Amino acid sequence: MKKFTCAADIGPWREAVKEALDIKANRFAYTELGRNRTLLMIFFNSSLRTRLSTQKAAMNLGMNVMVLDVNQGAWKLETERGVLMDGDKAEHLLEAIPVMGSYCDLIGVRSFAGLTDKKADYEERVIEQFIRHSGRPVFSMEAATRHPLQSFADLITIEEYKTKERPKVVMTWAPHPKALPQAVPNSFAEWMNMTDYEFVITHPHGYELDPTFTGRAVIEYDQRKALEGADFVYAKNWSAYADPNYGKVLSTDRSWTVDAEKMGLTDNAFFMHCLPVRRNMIVTDDVIESERSIVIPEAANREISAQTVIKRLLESL
Ligand code: CP
Repeated sequence: MKKFTCAADIGPWREAVKEALDIKANRFAYTELGRNRTLLMIFFNSSLRTRLSTQKAAMNLGMNVMVLDVNQGAWKLETERGVLMDGDKAEHLLEAIPVMGSYCDLIGVRSFAGLTDKKADYEERVIEQFIRHSGRPVFSMEAATRHPLQSFADLITIEEYKTKERPKVVMTWAPHPKALPQAVPNSFAEWMNMTDYEFVITHPHGYELDPTFTGRAVIEYDQRKALEGADFVYAKNWSAYADPNYGKVLSTDRSWTVDAEKMGLTDNAFFMHCLPVRRNMIVTDDVIESERSIVIPEAANREISAQTVIKRLLESL
């Protein structure tokens, strides 16, 4: 594997999950693979889970790790070509990327959507420049339109907890006070569409996602109907994708919050969320604290998805 930015990069999903579960059973089996290799993790945006789990995964593989927070302590970076750089951005990504590449063997990049220019976001201009100009294998730690390390961890978690061969997985929009990117729901849909699970997406009108990602998913505007018989409930907020409302919050309707009464419509479903989560906006305290909430093992599997991906990238060097 030379890069990891989308579901297709992982190849056959059952093989990937098996490899991940083998790693989980013996996570220090490959400590020689990363010896004298360096991972550079570059963050344009904040993180708790991605930062810690990816660093831990690389350390499990014997790697050295460097972390750069672009907006704290580094020069402010210009990302667009052709801009007159007479403002506060002192360095261009086109010089910074090959320089960063010269100090490491692998690069992880986190760069969220700006949510003002849909074309720029969906062209993935930042991570694509890293792929083109760094000379190193690059993996996404959440880019503008996808969060594949999260989705891979979600898939591993569903495979661990499912009690039916083809579980019903429902991704539900839930309210949030701020505009969030579509990266997590896009990516979750892309990964679920690789499987043969029953897959339903529910959201209010106006929150339709890019059909490229939703694919074969059943779209159900009635949240209660969607949740009937679900085995897994995956809650997430996202801002509008469709024009002319791209990146906007259209609703903060708390009747979409996942609560115990709605979980009662399911087939005793497990509750999932990528975290961080706004309690009592996205999900009520009692649901996230219930014994059917698997948000903590889901987050713990971020170490496993990252280790599987980094292992494969190291094996390609
Ligand atoms: N789920 C996730 O990516 O968490 P962080 O934003 O804290 O990394």
